[in-house]
Amino acid sequence: YRKYRAFKPVDLPDRQWPDKSITKAPGWCSVDLRDGNQALPVPMSVEEKIEMFELLLSLGFKEIEVGFPSASETEFEFLRRLIDENRIPEDVTVQILTQARAHLIERSFEAIKGAKKAIIHFYNSTSTVQRDVVFNKSREEIIEIAVEGARLIKEIAAKHSDTEIRYEYSPESFTGTELDFAKEICDAVIEIIDPDEENKLIINLPATVEMSLPNIYADQIEWMCRNINRREHLIISLHTHNDRGTGAAASELGLLAGADRVEGTLFGNGERTGNVDIITLAMNLYSQGIDPELDFSDINRLIEVYERCTKMTVPPRHPYAGELVYTAFSGSHQDAIRKGLEKYRKSDSRIWDLPYLPIEPADLQREYEAIIRINSQSGKGGVAFVLEDQYGLKLPKAMHPEFSAIIQRITDERGDELKGDEIYDVFNKEYLTD
Ligand code: KIV
Ligand code: ZN
Repeated sequence: YRKYRAFKPVDLPDRQWPDKSITKAPGWCSVDLRDGNQALPVPMSVEEKIEMFELLLSLGFKEIEVGFPSASETEFEFLRRLIDENRIPEDVTVQILTQARAHLIERSFEAIKGAKKAIIHFYNSTSTVQRDVVFNKSREEIIEIAVEGARLIKEIAAKHSDTEIRYEYSPESFTGTELDFAKEICDAVIEIIDPDEENKLIINLPATVEMSLPNIYADQIEWMCRNINRREHLIISLHTHNDRGTGAAASELGLLAGADRVEGTLFGNGERTGNVDIITLAMNLYSQGIDPELDFSDINRLIEVYERCTKMTVPPRHPYAGELVYTAFSGSHQDAIRKGLEKYRKSDSRIWDLPYLPIEPADLQREYEAIIRINSQSGKGGVAFVLEDQYGLKLPKAMHPEFSAIIQRITDERGDELKGDEIYDVFNKEYLTD
């Protein structure tokens, strides 16, 4: 990964340089099969979920939230198939979500029976608005729900000694919760779960709804990291949504603020505007010379499986993965990239430092493409330039007006631009075929 510039892309005077950077990958947890799936107009079938699960494994995820099996028969059946058909590798932990309610917790444990490792992720809503509008409960009563849930989970887990169980607690709607209350409820759960160095408790602090600037979320995370009890026995996890379009920034700032782990989805699938997109976060690390510990090198296959299983489409300008992100339309960009590529290919330095292309497209099995627009307004030189640049075909100057007129006639008839390969086809037809 050292081919990319780590941490300090330009030489800023020290006083302008922030004193913190992200220097290693966080723990990742994919919630594609739960948060992602619950937000699909047509949820995935069991077969599609299995295919997505296999895809997530191939990308390197070690923690995967597989569903809310106590709330959905399909998710229960899916998890049973993963376990019964031995589809979960030894080093992978499946995570299941449940509300902190007795009958749901009991059913969740039926769902994970026989799994080697599992994270039981329990949650209840803690924000002022949820307490007032939805539950009509006092702070004490909300704490009681979390504590009772934690107690019951621990009690039932003791009877499942064949599964290595870890716990995760989310004060859902954390971003709308008073910090002192978030601490109080998490501390109460921590006391019941009683984590230690070996068995850390995951405290997940979700931006269930993104409500503020990302630095505010980061301040909330920092405050929790500093004030929560037994920080050393906790894994602080982020779970950002994208309501303000800053889910990735919120997660990155949350990591700088002290968090250890990130939950998110491929391409930011998830409720409303989605969860944070893990591909963007991971590739941002990659482009800074940091091993993201996830492998997106086969991005085309990833897109194919993702689109087929979720029936969603990847936007053409999606960071790193979109169809158009390694394409330059502007002549000056193309010129700069061509010069950068020439220099890179000749030089011994393997540092990728090209104008307009933050990473080498080949790292994702993509190719850089220069799209030269040829339309009825283009000059004669443009057509000749395309043939030379893309096909090494040097057109004699005397032919420029004639060939350019042919191309312009076609663009006028079509009312549309011609791409390089189309211009080349026209050239072949006009001059090289009998
Ligand atoms: O967004 C959220 O708060 C959630 C919780 C269940 C963690 O998805
Ligand atoms: Zn969520």
